[in-house]
Amino acid sequence: MAEREASTSKAIERVVALANGKGGVGKTTTVANVGGYAALAGAKVLLVDLDPQGDLARDLGYEPQTGQELFNALITGTAPRVLTEVRENLDVIPGGQALEDIQGLMVSRAGRNDAGDFGDLLYAVLAPIAEAYDLILLDTPPGERTLVEGAFAVSTAVVIPTRSDDASLDGVERVARRFMAVRERNPALQLAGVVLFGVGPRSLRLERSVRHSLQEMLSDVAPVFNTRIRNLESASADARKKGLLFYELEGAATDAQKQRLKALRAGEKPAEEFFARSAGDLAEEYEQLTGEILRRLNQIESENL
Ligand SMILES: Nc1ncnc2c1ncn2[C@@H]1O[C@H](COP(=O)(O)OP(=O)(O)OP(=O)(O)O)[C@@H](O)[C@H]1O
Ligand SMILES: [Mg+2]
Repeated sequence: MAEREASTSKAIERVVALANGKGGVGKTTTVANVGGYAALAGAKVLLVDLDPQGDLARDLGYEPQTGQELFNALITGTAPRVLTEVRENLDVIPGGQALEDIQGLMVSRAGRNDAGDFGDLLYAVLAPIAEAYDLILLDTPPGERTLVEGAFAVSTAVVIPTRSDDASLDGVERVARRFMAVRERNPALQLAGVVLFGVGPRSLRLERSVRHSLQEMLSDVAPVFNTRIRNLESASADARKKGLLFYELEGAATDAQKQRLKALRAGEKPAEEFFARSAGDLAEEYEQLTGEILRRLNQIESENL
């Protein structure tokens, strides 16, 4: 049973995976903005993009990467390239297309008896650098089972963002099943909670019924967080286009407005830049959500002690 022993209890403290089997439910946006707020509050934060799509680059505005450096670090067990100070207190290990090859690589290695699984590779890369951070958030792809289960294998908590449609709720159920499967080898793994994302501003009744279904599905194992992220397409499109977090976009919108007013007073043609005014609403929601998630992580940590 040596093999089994080698692959249990690989959880790294304060590592949190964001996951849902469904695409487009706010995993990446939440990693970027919760990470951004935690860093703003003074925590030392590392974000790891395990998605071949590499979308985290869009939300944070750094140059999109190939993912090859992370892939190489994983297969050789060496230190990954870390983009440091992407924001103050915020570092990133970028993802990208090369991570698509992980699945195939793991299949080809499966026959070898010295080979661990993807969780072991990820552990070898993250464990030596984890000490330097107060919080590590893992962004996962919607499919790619190997990557998602590997992320769970090294995490102490999972946060599941979901939209309120049935397909997204099915995604929650799928991810909960994966969570249960991985828990057998990583008993430290806890479900931190579910985030309702992209909720229509006038659909209180729908929100209440979705909360109810989710809470039944979770059967009191974990909360549905009180903060829900409103559906605000233009503000989120602006944020991605500019590579800004919501609180930064709020600042940029205020600055742009000041510039326009100044031009107006001077009788000049105002600058073209218009930003959706709702960035501030999203900034506020993510600030609250970050607080809720961090409090929940503290609770999980004290229960684990
Ligand atoms: N508050 C919001 N309201 C509406 N749309 C939003 C909001 N925030 C972000 N979006 C947009 O929703 C889309 C999906 O978000 P995101 O990329 O975070 O989801 P994801 O779960 O990471 O997707 P994938 O599964 O493809 O990785 C993106 O285009 C994003 O810009
Ligand atoms: Mg994503």
